[in-house]
Amino acid sequence: MLKKKVEDICNRQVEREGYSSNLYLAMASWAETNGLAGVAQWLYVQSDEERLHMLKFIKYINERGGKAVIPAFKKPPADFKNVEEMFREVLKHEQFVTASINEIVALTNDEKDFNTHNFLQWFVFEQVEEEASVRAILDKLKLGGKSNMYQFDRDIMSLRAPASSAPAVG
Ligand SMILES: [Fe+2]
Ligand SMILES: [Fe+2]
Repeated sequence: MLKKKVEDICNRQVEREGYSSNLYLAMASWAETNGLAGVAQWLYVQSDEERLHMLKFIKYINERGGKAVIPAFKKPPADFKNVEEMFREVLKHEQFVTASINEIVALTNDEKDFNTHNFLQWFVFEQVEEEASVRAILDKLKLGGKSNMYQFDRDIMSLRAPASSAPAVG
């Protein structure tokens, strides 16, 4: 049985992963309507992954005798200055999520909840991967992608780590 404190912080993460999914969906829509089909595709895939993260938390909470609560989500921004600024926001958001996961890990240590601690390890690794992949994109933009948006947009999907490294939700 999950302790209430752990259940609550896991429910907070349901909201954060769900918001991440909506944020990337909003960015995908912005990119798509600005002629950036590749960038949009990267963001649509990212949005789907975040939804799976949310589902992992929902299923875990319920499996351990808690109750996952589906929250209302804050409206994400609809417009972005340019592609580079948008990916800076993605990185900032991922850093926020990493800190949030780390807070849950710290709580599971305090509460001696080793099952949840173990469940969280997948997310700890995932955050390292996600931050690195966004940094790689920002590096490409710095290397001149900005001046050749056609090529950047065409190649961005090749910067994705193969999805096989992420275990299925279950
Ligand atoms: Fe996530
Ligand atoms: Fe993420």
